[in-house]
Amino acid sequence: MSFAEFLPGIRYVGVNDRTTTRFEALWTLPCGVSYNAYLVVGEKIALIDTVEASFGNRLVENIREEIGDRPIDYLVVNHMEPDHSSSMAALRQLYPAMRIVGNSRTLDMIRGYYGLDEGLCEVGESDTIDLGGATLAFRMIPMVHWPETMATWCPEQRVLFSGDAFGTFGALDGGITDTQLDPDRYRDEMRRYYAAIVGKYGGPVQQALRKVRTLPVGTICPTHGPVWQRHAGEILEEYDRMSRCAGEPGVVIAYGSMYGNTERVAECLARDLAAEGIRNIVVHNLSYADESVVLRDVFRYDTLVVGSPTYNAELFPPVEQLLRRIETRNMPGRRFACFGSFTWAGAAVRRLDEFARRMKWETVGEPIELRQGFSAAVRESCRDLARRIAEGMREEADRE
Ligand code: FEO
Repeated sequence: MSFAEFLPGIRYVGVNDRTTTRFEALWTLPCGVSYNAYLVVGEKIALIDTVEASFGNRLVENIREEIGDRPIDYLVVNHMEPDHSSSMAALRQLYPAMRIVGNSRTLDMIRGYYGLDEGLCEVGESDTIDLGGATLAFRMIPMVHWPETMATWCPEQRVLFSGDAFGTFGALDGGITDTQLDPDRYRDEMRRYYAAIVGKYGGPVQQALRKVRTLPVGTICPTHGPVWQRHAGEILEEYDRMSRCAGEPGVVIAYGSMYGNTERVAECLARDLAAEGIRNIVVHNLSYADESVVLRDVFRYDTLVVGSPTYNAELFPPVEQLLRRIETRNMPGRRFACFGSFTWAGAAVRRLDEFARRMKWETVGEPIELRQGFSAAVRESCRDLARRIAEGMREEADRE
């Protein structure tokens, strides 16, 4: 049994990408990313998903190392985004008899992306494929995070091949499963992946989780990051929390500042919240912070405080960008407070207040608004706002 065979007949053949700097040309990859693919080996062989095309040769080497010259009978496509599907056409050249398995939306995308029309096999919710010693069944989980997304279930080994669901950023440093590497290194990267990639689709993720819970899952094999075995239960719970946007007690202070006045409010609020006994406080200067890290923290904590100077009679652009990202993710239920600054005509606080109304979020305290410089009155307002935020958090904790 090779190291890649982490369960009888289930083998990892994915690859690490340590050179791409931005996933989807958007999100940073400080620790790389893995594109996971798996073989299910019975009398017949199925490959579950492929890898990004520039790593296709490495995928083929990994496959050959595991099964030599045996053919692949089926390629199951759980997700069509090209980081998983773009080696498909090259693989078909190598394995011309390989049938490509997907639901009707998948097959439509295969035709559109790769011009493949032969040897396709459409499956639905009640279909199975018998590999001889291993069965593949299919669960449709649309909009996690594309419309064609599905999961593949192997009941003999209680393995769920879940697509992007439960995936993380971060290349696999040696180990494949969460018992072979330090899972804690990947937890924050899972939150960041969720916030950046999947976060808009909390409702479909909840529906997917309802389906997953009907299965006696022992192992989760996502398309990125570690295979979850020992921690599979915790990962399901974490996904449930994230997709409900259930924030942990904590405060994110996200601000823009051109000359340091708005920043001074952010720093004072953070110190005053700490003095009130709040321990989970994260402060982000939005001109410099990694956007996916900010989103990760906004998903994680239950209170968001945003500060912005007025700029061209609008919000400061990095603040505007963050609010747009939050709004497109339909994030419910955050406690919100704000502060802003202006020199001759204020707009930022008004815009922040409009944002909170659109989101239907609970606002805490009065916005702090600076006209020109910081003052003793503003300093006192920071203490008041911090006190109100802390009181709200304590009341919430008492209710739970
Ligand atoms: Fe990892 Fe949605 O592709």
